[in-house]
Amino acid sequence: MSDVTFPEGTIRKLWPSETDRFRNHLLRLDKQSRRLRFAHGVADAFIEDYADRMSDMGSLVFGFVVDGEVRAAAELRKLGDTWGREAEAAFSVEKVYQDLGIGSELMGRVIRAARNRGLQLLYMSCLAENSKMQAIARKYEAELRFEYGEVIGEIVPDTANYFSILAEAMDDRVGFMLAVFDLQSRLVKAA
Ligand SMILES: CC(C)(COP(=O)(O)OP(=O)(O)OC[C@H]1O[C@@H](n2cnc3c(N)ncnc32)[C@H](O)[C@@H]1OP(=O)(O)O)[C@@H](O)C(=O)NCCC(=O)NCCS
Repeated sequence: MSDVTFPEGTIRKLWPSETDRFRNHLLRLDKQSRRLRFAHGVADAFIEDYADRMSDMGSLVFGFVVDGEVRAAAELRKLGDTWGREAEAAFSVEKVYQDLGIGSELMGRVIRAARNRGLQLLYMSCLAENSKMQAIARKYEAELRFEYGEVIGEIVPDTANYFSILAEAMDDRVGFMLAVFDLQSRLVKAA
């Protein structure tokens, strides 16, 4: 999957130093999206604590970044200390950015990253009522098996290949440059 630049923003991996941006994004989720994201209603304090642990847990977080703010995210979290066979995936898109294809694109990034790390199973806390997530899963049905459960969906990524590894590496290079531009523009604004 090539790098995609949406009209107002870009998808790239977030750096550990961008925890604040990730936390602010999760805090901006409307009540319903917050409930769907965490499979139950959660308080601000829970989100603050959760976001603080973004880099501790060595998880990968892809962000959809608009003018230096994260407006959507996809997380790939280890279940243990190292990348084993299984991991957890989660998605969040702020209300005004929903239904623009961003969640679908993020799903593609997560599946590819999972393949490249040799993961064989991804768990996704997903309420059965979450029809948008199911619509996205259907788009990737050639690459994943998604079982509609009460809470947990399973994604079975395909194995890594030269092209999937190269594509992630190329996206990372572009993402690095975009993050640097982002930092520069923030420094210019602050000056
Ligand atoms: C679920 C979520 C990540 C999807 O992201 P998104 O950017 O809105 O998704 P996309 O635009 O890529 O795709 C949404 C799909 O759902 C479809 N859709 C929208 N409303 C729908 C509905 N009520 N019923 C069924 N499908 C619906 C859209 O048509 C689209 O499919 P299409 O591209 O084939 O037309 C986002 O809405 C979100 O963050 N929701 C709250 C948190 C959440 O549910 N997280 C997932 C936890 S598992």
